[in-house]
Formats: sequence, structure tokens, C-alpha cells
Amino acid sequence: MAIKPHGGILVNRLIKDEEKEEFISSLGPLPVKNVNQREVCDIEMIAVGAFSPLEGFMGRDDYESVLDFMRLQNGVVWPLPITLSATEEEIKEIGSSERILLKDERSNLLALLEVGEIFKVDKEVEAGKCLKTTSDEHPGVRYLKSIGDYYISGKVTLINRPRRPDFERYLLDPKETRFLFKRKGWKKIVAFQTRNPIHRAHEYLIKCALEIVDAVLIHPLVGETKSDDIPAHVRMKCYEVLLDNYFPKTRSTLSVFPAAMRYAGPREAILHAIARKNYGCTHFIVGRDHAGVGNFYGTYDAHYIFDEFERDEIDIEPLFFEHSFYCRKCGSMASIKTCPHPSEDHFFLSGTKVRKMLREGKLPPPEMTRPEVAEILVREYRGE
Ligand code: ADX
Repeated sequence: MAIKPHGGILVNRLIKDEEKEEFISSLGPLPVKNVNQREVCDIEMIAVGAFSPLEGFMGRDDYESVLDFMRLQNGVVWPLPITLSATEEEIKEIGSSERILLKDERSNLLALLEVGEIFKVDKEVEAGKCLKTTSDEHPGVRYLKSIGDYYISGKVTLINRPRRPDFERYLLDPKETRFLFKRKGWKKIVAFQTRNPIHRAHEYLIKCALEIVDAVLIHPLVGETKSDDIPAHVRMKCYEVLLDNYFPKTRSTLSVFPAAMRYAGPREAILHAIARKNYGCTHFIVGRDHAGVGNFYGTYDAHYIFDEFERDEIDIEPLFFEHSFYCRKCGSMASIKTCPHPSEDHFFLSGTKVRKMLREGKLPPPEMTRPEVAEILVREYRGE
């Protein structure tokens, strides 16, 4: 039997294509609110059921409960606020409207919001609790400072999906990945979250996991990321060559995760795991400093946070991995759990160093990155 969605029911807040026209004309004139890139991603995640059991943006009770206890008001585990921001002027424009239209920054119609409540928040408190910092060095803090002081709650109905031309063929909703797994006969599926090209260390974790499950879902995050992360369309090319050359076709599949990155480290690891359960995965890889940025989180904070919940509350099985590296003496990838040699034998390049090599047109070494992947990255950096 397939794994149950978080909270029990797979949410579906999408309007069917054949019902769209009638739905839109039934709405009449409504106030419009423009939403930012993160909110666009959240709307889609809610509507396709990736954020089940959420059916919309959080109200104050859920919001406060999530901040303080990492749970919704009803006790279901939920680690991060999913909220729709508004400025004072926008609140005035909305007035007492019960329904509003949500449009993206280019004024494309996205969704209908059934307005619940409007509440003012202290974003510094939110940053302190969720991101564990109020420093401007943290991209999540900068995001919070850039948005309005109010949140609007309410159910969303997605009318038009955000356009993602680069990834259309890899865009599978939770109900579709669930169907795929069933058709393939895969019962134990491990999800791999990433916002980077897959380097040898990532590949090592995935392959260790593949030894104990039926298949892997490579599930790169392709929603909003910070500007110095490698763009998703480039990463997709890297994933394609890697899968073609180094992964068993009968036990691996690639699909995109259209969420925005929050860089919230441990709390985001829980969100990533829960969402992958909604996609039908049974296992989830958590390595070192999962969803971290800079030095804001401890290397294994994203492992420890899972201890704060009962196993059946999260339900998807986390597979924890130590920091892995290439060991010259072992002649293979390893971690301190498997390698007896001193750190001088360990080869590791930071993301910053790799980016510097790429900028200089140098191929990262094969101990770090498969040559097929390295070539794509170098070409992209050269602008070819
Ligand atoms: S993340 O923001 O999506 O976590 P990244 O794409 O770098 O960033 O990592 C994807 C997954 O691989 C995460 O679970 C992360 O913890 C893990 N990971 C990345 N590099 C290593 C490494 N050298 N050793 C162990 N785990 C790693």
C-alpha cells in the first residue's frame, strides 16, 4: 500500500482545464493582489498537494503554533510558516473583500484566494524562531525584511499554473509520482532533495541509499533560489547526463520539485521530508547541513531535529548521512564512518572553490564531479 499523505489526505486545489473558463467568468470583478516568487511557488505546492494537508495560506493560530511548536493548531507536524504577505496599502485595497485574485509579478492570473483573516506579524520574531538568526547575511531574513508586515490567510484555488517551460517534461505532481511508483512496482522509494548539480558526494549518498530501497526519485528544487546558486535549467542538464551515464534506468527517475528554497536548515529538512512523503516517497536523504546557508546551522542540526517528533508523526524514513568525501587511500568515496585514514587523505572542495574553478574555466577534478557534469558546468560558465 502506498504511503499516506501528510495529515491523511492528498490535497487537490487545481481547476480542471475544461472548467477553467466557466470558473473565471463566474468570479466577476475582484480585487487583485500581486504575489512574489516565493508565494507563486507556495501556491503551486499547496494546490498540487505537495504541502498537504495545507489547503491555503496559514491563519494566525496555525502560524503561531508553527513558530512555537512546529505543529499546526490541530497537532499535525509542520515546521515552517506558509504565508501570504501584504503591505498596509494592499490591505486597504482589499478592504472587506471575501475573495481576491492572485497574480504573479507579470500580472498573469494564478489563483483565487478565499480571504480568511488578515493579521500583523513581527517578522523579526519569525526569523529568530524559524531561521535561528535575524542577520541580514541570511537570505531568508532578507526576504522577510523585503515583504509587508501583514499576512493574509485563506484557501487557494489554482487557476493557471506558473509557467515553467524549462522543466515541463519533468513536472510531475504528487498524484502523478504516486501513480508512476505504482506502475513501476516500486514500494520503497528514496527521495533526494538538491539545489546543486549532483557531485560525487551527493551521488555517493544516493547510491548508498539505493542499496536498501527499490528506487530513487532525484527531486531537484527548481523554485526560487538565491542568485549565486546554479540556475535550475543548467542543473537539469547535469542531472540528465548523470542519470544517463551513472544510474540504473530501472531504479531511478528524475522529476522537479517546484518549491522555493528557504535556507532554513533543520526546519526546512522536515518540510522537505514531509513534502516528499506527499509525492509518495518512503525514504528521504538528509546529509550534512541540509538546506543550510553560510554557517548558520550546525553540520548535523538537520539530523537532530527529527528526534523532536515521534517516528509515525513524520512517517517518511529519514536516511542520515555523515559528511562524505573522496579518500585517496581508499580510492573511493567515504565518510568518517567507513574510512580509517587521516583528513590529509580526504579530498573535498567547497561550493565556493568549485564556482571559482568554473569561473576560471577549469574543470573540477573527477574525484569531485563526474567529467560529463563538469563539462556542462564549465560550458555554462564560459557562456557557451
Ligand atoms: S540542499 O540545500 O538541497 O540541502 P545540496 O544540494 O548541496 O543542498 O544538498 C543536497 C543533499 O545532499 C542534502 O541532504 C545535503 O545535506 C547533502 N550533502 C551535500 N553535500 C554533502 C556531503 N559532502 N556529504 C554529505 N551530505 C552532503
